[in-house]
Amino acid sequence: MCGIIGYLGYREAYPILINGLKKLEYRGYDSSGIAIFYKNGFFLCKTKGRVSELEKKIFSYKIKIKGTIGIGHTRWATHGIPDDINAHPHVSNSNELIMIHNGIIENYHKIKIFLLKNGFTFVSKTDTEVLVNLIEYIKKKNKLSLEESVRISLNEIVGAYSIAIVEKSNPETIIIAKLGSPLALGINEKEFFIASDPISFINYTNNTLYLKDGEMAILKKNKELDLRKIINNHKLNPIIKKLKINLKEIEKGEYKYFMLKEIYEQPKTILDTLRGRLLIPKGIICIDGIESNKDIFINAKSITILACGTSWHSGLIGEYLLEKLTRIPVEVEYASEFRYKNPILEKKDIIIVISQSGETADTLAALKLAKKKGAFVFGICNVVGSSIARNVDAGVYTHAGPEIGVASTKAFTAQIIILVLIALKIGKYRFTINNNFYQSFCKELGSISEKVNNTLKVYNSIKIIAKKYFNVNNFLYLGRGINFPVALEGALKLKEISYIHAEGYPAAEMKHGPIALIDENMPVVIIATKKGCYEKIIGNIQEIKARKGKIIAIVNEGDIQINTLADFTIKVPYIIEELSPLITVIPLQLLAYQIACIRGENVDQPRNLAKSVTVE
Ligand code: M6R
Repeated sequence: MCGIIGYLGYREAYPILINGLKKLEYRGYDSSGIAIFYKNGFFLCKTKGRVSELEKKIFSYKIKIKGTIGIGHTRWATHGIPDDINAHPHVSNSNELIMIHNGIIENYHKIKIFLLKNGFTFVSKTDTEVLVNLIEYIKKKNKLSLEESVRISLNEIVGAYSIAIVEKSNPETIIIAKLGSPLALGINEKEFFIASDPISFINYTNNTLYLKDGEMAILKKNKELDLRKIINNHKLNPIIKKLKINLKEIEKGEYKYFMLKEIYEQPKTILDTLRGRLLIPKGIICIDGIESNKDIFINAKSITILACGTSWHSGLIGEYLLEKLTRIPVEVEYASEFRYKNPILEKKDIIIVISQSGETADTLAALKLAKKKGAFVFGICNVVGSSIARNVDAGVYTHAGPEIGVASTKAFTAQIIILVLIALKIGKYRFTINNNFYQSFCKELGSISEKVNNTLKVYNSIKIIAKKYFNVNNFLYLGRGINFPVALEGALKLKEISYIHAEGYPAAEMKHGPIALIDENMPVVIIATKKGCYEKIIGNIQEIKARKGKIIAIVNEGDIQINTLADFTIKVPYIIEELSPLITVIPLQLLAYQIACIRGENVDQPRNLAKSVTVE
């Protein structure tokens, strides 16, 4: 978590850092800070709150900040509450070293005690302040250069980091290093841009180098990039790539929030995900990562899916699809739990990891463990070149474009599309589906984007429902079969952006406990599309009604039965059951969005959250 940024070149650093930090706020936004360097001094400002608060604070000083070298940070608190003191950059005891950090230093406590014994003092509660002082200690004791002190210190560290550090007396050099947390470098003639995510510098350059784990770089004014291995100081050959990011994709345009923009993008992102993978008239599915590992999938005894949050929900949908179409048993596990349960894995067991960001620490750690045990790991990621994408044996990108809103929407539907394609492809290989079924399924896939587009028209009815229920304290979401994970996803969306308590349940489980919660104040969102135990769902609706619960039912267009029972019906187009989550999730995304808006919450940056969770 946290976003780091830096600039070294000939332009004024301040606007580059502030604007870049705004683009990184999806990574954390509870406090922020910058340091701009000039000859033998620096300007430092840190504050609790969003980058806009930092900007206001700096503006209130009524000074012109000049300087062409600087670093900045937007924080998601791990060690120490979000306040001005714990905000980055952190300064060493002698005021000589100034550092920003994303990640967690796991052995910081031991180092802190050692440094305290050696006369160091600490003002913050952060692990970062410990690291910057360790570097200072090593530098002074051994009379070393900054780069060598950084290198030696990092070899003492257990944990994850991406850092940038500057020495007050030598402000024309920035040292950066990475292990675990992402770090990209933008390179132009005579200037370097440092960032956790290149979206913050892409309007200046697309020449990008992603530092690998265990690498550090010494950036000097008017000098070539110097890339090294942290462990042994060996020089490395930098591989700079041209990054393709469409700037429009990272701007809100006419939308108030990225989340709404991303919800509305789904008809297009679904097409982007399908592009080149589904050749409709012939019904050909092309997924390189599956084709080149055909035998592994044909002979699979089981598949384990690992993911977190929304990606875990798409994994549950994947379980349903894979089991139905391939007859391979599937388990879906929270990546965070998997790692600590001493999982039973044999060589060539199949693991599928799903992650929008490709940087989720729990998923990355679970992936590494699975690989260590000899499993074959297949990845489904959205962010191209992300850590997870780089670490898997094979994989496929969702191509949903940058997702900026913290609440995941278009990445979810893109992941489902990929899981559908994978299940169909493996099902065909294993002869567990017949050709007619396969062909008609492919045809249905061809119509899904248009149907999602039509589903978006429910927004007006959603607005009425949101107005009625925005003030309640609890919501229940029910679904069955493949739509049970959609109920979970609807509840998660509402929780994370509106702060209303919500639970998702399989509809039939209601009678085993949650039914006790139902009274006239409880709105129950129930996915009641045709097929998928329709009659049973009607029974569940009757049970809720008998207890005076308020029913908001997602039904298919033309449904008349549920209309008479529900308080509100949201009518969505019919699609085969296996693809129905792509349709039924749309009203749930819109409902959560609209309720959060009415409650006046910051939809894109909900409290306590961050877009990519790079801490365990
Ligand atoms: O980037 P990932 O897909 O690995 O992220 C996993 C979760 O952190 C993420 O889905 C989270 O639950 C979202 N905020 C949900 O909207």
